[in-house]
Amino acid sequence: MSPLISPSMLSADFCHLADAIKMVNNSEADWFHLDIMDGVFVPNISYGMPVIKAIRSKAEKPLDVHLMIVQPERYVERFKEVGADILTVHWEACIHLHRTIYQIKNADMLAGVALNPHTPVAGLEDIINDVDMVLIMSVNPGFGGQKFIERSLHRIAELKAMIKRNKSNCLIEVDGGVDLTNAQQLVDAGADVLVAGNAIFSKENPTEIIHQLKNVK
Ligand code: DX5
Ligand code: ZN
Repeated sequence: MSPLISPSMLSADFCHLADAIKMVNNSEADWFHLDIMDGVFVPNISYGMPVIKAIRSKAEKPLDVHLMIVQPERYVERFKEVGADILTVHWEACIHLHRTIYQIKNADMLAGVALNPHTPVAGLEDIINDVDMVLIMSVNPGFGGQKFIERSLHRIAELKAMIKRNKSNCLIEVDGGVDLTNAQQLVDAGADVLVAGNAIFSKENPTEIIHQLKNVK
C-alpha cells in the first residue's frame, strides 16, 4: 500500500512559507509535518504557536505536529487550539507517558509517541494499544538534512511485529534522512508514514518528489 507522505516544513523557505503551503496543498502529500524544538530537549529552536496558527489558516490537510520539547504535557491543549490534528510527544520527554497519551486523545487529537534512535522499541509494548502512531526517529532529532541511520530499518520491522502481536492499529511514521533511495525499504519494513524535509524542499520540483515518494508500493 502506498505510504502517507508528511513533508517537513522545517526545510521550507520561511520567507515564502505561503508558497510552500500551497505546494503541499496541491501535491499528493497527506499531512503537514511541523517540528517544534525548544532548545532543551534538542540543541535547536525552531518555531512555535504563531507559526503553527498561520500554517493552519492556509493548510488544507491535517497538521502532524512533532514536539521535541521537555514536559510536553504543559502545552497539549494549546497545540490543539492552534490547529494540531496529530500530536506526537517523545518517549524520552514524558515521565507519565500513558497519562500524556490520554491527555492528547481527550483533547481530540491523534496521539503519537516518538523514539530517539537509541531508545529500545521494546519499551513501547505496554502502550502499543493506547497510541495512534509511533514515530521512529531515523536521525538524532534537532536538525533537517541529516544522514539516515540504517539500523532504523530493523527498528521498524521490530515495531511492526509488536503491532501485529498486540493487534494494535497504530501507524508507524519514520522521520529523518528519508528520501527516494530508502523509501521503498522503509515501506517494506513496515512504515506507514514517511516524513521528508530536505529530500523534498531542496529539489527543483518538490511536487514530483512527493509524487515519487507516494508511489512507493
Ligand atoms: C528532525 C525533524 C525532522 C526533520 C526531517 O529533528 O524531526 O522532521 O525536519 O528532515 P529531513 O527529511 O531533512 O531529515
Ligand atoms: Zn519531525
